[in-house]
Amino acid sequence: MGIQFQEEKRIFTLQTEHTAYQFKIDSFGFLLHLYYGERTEGDMDYLLTYYDRGFSGNPYEADRDRTYSMDVLPQEFPCMGNGDYRNTALVLKNGDGAYSCDFRYAGHRIYKGKYALKGLPAVYAAESQAETLEVVLEDRASRLQAVLLYGVLPKCDIITRSVRIINKGRKKAYIEKAASACLDFLYGNYDFISFYGRHCMERCFQRMPVSHGTYSIGSRRGTSSHQYNPAVILADEHATETAGLCYGMVFVFSGGFQMEVEKDQFNQTRAVMGLQSEQLCYPLPPEGEFIVPETVLTCSTEGFGQLSRNYHRCFRKHLCRGKYRDALRPVLINSWEADYFGFTGSSILRLADDAARLGMDMVVLDDGWFGERDNDDCALGDWYVNEKKLGGTLGELAENINRRGLKFGLWIEPEMISENSQLYREHPDWVMAVPGRKPVRGRYQLVLDFSREDVRQTVFDQICSVLDNANVEYVKWDMNRSIADVYSLKTNEQGRVLYDYVLGVYDFLEKLGKRYPDMLIEGCSGGGGRYDAGMLYYTPQIWCSDNTDAVDRVKIQYGTSFFYPASTVGAHVSAVPNHQTGRQVSLHTRGVVAMAGAFGYELDPAKLSPREQEEIKEQIRQYHRFAPLILNGDYYRLTSPYEEETGAWAFVSEDKSEVLLNVVMLEIHGNMTTNYVKLQGLAPEGIYEEEGTGRRYTGRALMAAGLPMPIELGEYLAYQMYFRRVE
Ligand code: GLA
Repeated sequence: MGIQFQEEKRIFTLQTEHTAYQFKIDSFGFLLHLYYGERTEGDMDYLLTYYDRGFSGNPYEADRDRTYSMDVLPQEFPCMGNGDYRNTALVLKNGDGAYSCDFRYAGHRIYKGKYALKGLPAVYAAESQAETLEVVLEDRASRLQAVLLYGVLPKCDIITRSVRIINKGRKKAYIEKAASACLDFLYGNYDFISFYGRHCMERCFQRMPVSHGTYSIGSRRGTSSHQYNPAVILADEHATETAGLCYGMVFVFSGGFQMEVEKDQFNQTRAVMGLQSEQLCYPLPPEGEFIVPETVLTCSTEGFGQLSRNYHRCFRKHLCRGKYRDALRPVLINSWEADYFGFTGSSILRLADDAARLGMDMVVLDDGWFGERDNDDCALGDWYVNEKKLGGTLGELAENINRRGLKFGLWIEPEMISENSQLYREHPDWVMAVPGRKPVRGRYQLVLDFSREDVRQTVFDQICSVLDNANVEYVKWDMNRSIADVYSLKTNEQGRVLYDYVLGVYDFLEKLGKRYPDMLIEGCSGGGGRYDAGMLYYTPQIWCSDNTDAVDRVKIQYGTSFFYPASTVGAHVSAVPNHQTGRQVSLHTRGVVAMAGAFGYELDPAKLSPREQEEIKEQIRQYHRFAPLILNGDYYRLTSPYEEETGAWAFVSEDKSEVLLNVVMLEIHGNMTTNYVKLQGLAPEGIYEEEGTGRRYTGRALMAAGLPMPIELGEYLAYQMYFRRVE
């Protein structure tokens, strides 16, 4: 397993436990992709066929051989300008203004461990867990180099890709499009699965056939976005949740992205994942280097469920970092939906009293604690404590909360600025705005130019002086608008600003994490507007959605689960009628749904009846008990909430000895039919006992025949059942 190079045939083979990936250096020095799929032995070179194809040109050295064309052959890193007319991974503007690009093999090296990317998030692994292949390609005319990076994590069935573009020439070049991964398939009918959405309804599932022409998703918002998640699946048309061939492509970046899939003239499929090319025109001076963010690939021959579990394992242990990668997460109560901007220091302490009594672990003070921030049209950028509102210092508030046996957490939104703020009055030139034009506002706010070190440093210092003076053990990092008016006063090269902005955010987060290694940072962008693998490198959990309605959450969390592990999903029980939908759902159902992640509350317990408060106590006890299974167990989607009357999922411990089954009834009808839910991932020969009833089943029966769900009157009832293997 790992990486092999066959000298004679010049073939690279990347092997994981269940998959193989192969490409070769051909006689002209081009890299031709040979195969990615179920693990095979031997050379897959025989798969390539060569025919004279009209209007598909030939490289000069092919001479009279008209059967060799870049327009037809599968490639590792297709570039614009060498006769490939499909979507390419790289568009370069050379120093002479030409768009030609002719990358040929110039060398390679293979080493133990996983490469890292300077200034960018990336999958990491111990030396014994991964191998790296670097292939150097060179364009002889311009002396530009592309170093293709491949990381192989055999146990996770994961292959990562990234690219370093280096200018060894004497003229400045520009990068106008850059992708880190291309998958070329020689034949087959594929479906494209993507996750679209909007604020309060992120990551909705969509499956459609790949057909002739290009279908593209992406974000031009400067963030990965609510609208399209930078993670997709290419699936054999017959693939299902539990069977069939499928491939995942996940972009490890929190800014704009572009994903294109195309069926070409010969019914070959190409999928390309990379940076958003609009507004990208990145300067590459002599000796300059540009890193294309990583794409994480996986391949499953057992359907989407296995694909998801490959990602979950990889992201949990090889992307998330810090103490909370492995530690259980505190059950928190967040002040936002409890009281929005209406809190005072004493109301927060009342919340803390209730939280402590009910068995929670942490109180989070959300938006409104700083500057003159009493509503959302002011004070962003003024990161000093509003002591008048709190009736004391933040340190005192934190102490008082700690005294009640609870941790204390705080909301921040460092990238933003309100025009009505001290910071704006002092530094109006720090915002992203085009000189001579009025900027686009979002939620009344403007965006700080985080591509600038000096801007970041000032905000960093302000925030640190708050965090240094109070025992803050959690921070929720928010970002509440899309970026427009891309312009930095610090550079003449505006085509670099969006990329540099994201690297600025990463730089800030890296410093914050280093300075407060024990602090838990939760990512957020109006809920799940920046729920991506890039953020997970800095924030091991992310607020999944501003929509806390349990029924909508079944779908949102279903979509999220295709790539991101439950340990990363911030999920809270909120009040009813729900603030986003007005829907009434029982407390029990809200609890079951929120327990599919990092659990908490988003309500004022004082407004609940004693009976409800008792129920919450019980929920928290249950969550504390099941947290190891939920955060570390294998995740199985058992139904599709888009197609079935139930939403069902289960957590199964790695040794298959424990199972937590969760079912939400999404529909109710007169004279209702019975719904059966089939489990997955159990030991077929094992005997499983259901807690509470003492009923026993074989693993095989639970998987092959399933369990009937009760029919009870009422909407959105939920069932949570725990099974332990007894034999
Ligand atoms: C965003 C977040 C919410 C809350 C508010 C505060 O919308 O997603 O959870 O923090 O901002 O303004």
